Amino acid sequence: MKPIGVFDSGVGGLTVVKELIRQLPYEDIVYFGDTARVPYGIKSKETVIRFSIENILFLLKHEVKFICVACNTVSSFALPEIKNHFRVPIVGVITPGAREAVYATRNKRVGVIGTKGTIKSCAYEDEIKQFDPKVKVTAVACPLFVPFVEEGWLTGNVVTTVAKQYLKPFQETGVDTVILGCTHYPLLKNVISEVLGKNVTLIDSAKQVAIEVNKILSNEGLLNERGKGKPACRLGRHDFFVSDNPEWFSNLAERFLGEPVKNVKKVSNV
Ligand code: DGL
Repeated sequence: MKPIGVFDSGVGGLTVVKELIRQLPYEDIVYFGDTARVPYGIKSKETVIRFSIENILFLLKHEVKFICVACNTVSSFALPEIKNHFRVPIVGVITPGAREAVYATRNKRVGVIGTKGTIKSCAYEDEIKQFDPKVKVTAVACPLFVPFVEEGWLTGNVVTTVAKQYLKPFQETGVDTVILGCTHYPLLKNVISEVLGKNVTLIDSAKQVAIEVNKILSNEGLLNERGKGKPACRLGRHDFFVSDNPEWFSNLAERFLGEPVKNVKKVSNV
């Protein structure tokens, strides 16, 4: 069986890989992190589309059966365009996250946080409205959260103060559900929850996209079930490629994936 391809602007997409491994342990995964060109969150739509097409062409060289776009910025800006260019099924994080938020909200007020690009695209908002036009959406860009996570500042006064400032509009609009619309934000769940209070449900788009991938692979008959029911089954193989700085990626990877990542290969042809 062929592997699943996953790509992101950098290391953050490993939050999606973590969920994929948890839910689909027998699947082989090829991951590409575009560490030479990260961050995508501040780039224009045209640039994000161009980079994404190059990343997909790289994954296709590895004969992937399916592509999961882990990056929220790519899913927001580029997914509708890039889907038309390729025959391989491609899924992004927006639809699964939006669907779960509409399902979770009781007062029909949903908050979205993401990069500047994701928020500017209104992709989550548009998708939520498709599911339920009555839901009111408040969307806020939280650009400092990405460097906080990469620096390992997951708790403490500084990150809490910044979170309070960013999340103020949600308290004003009274949202009861907030989508963590960026690969890095699941790592700040504790701080965000502390600021918003226990009554606000946080939607982890990484978790939701893994559920979606599982469903699609199963429906299409593409699931790798070689290990099912066998005691000595082989778990999936995971290969990691980056466009720059494999040491930086390896050092940060454990924080996102929950386990060390060795043998990160640098590729120069994207
Ligand atoms: N991976 C990006 C996202 O989920 C965050 C980092 C970046 O700006 O490239 O939107």
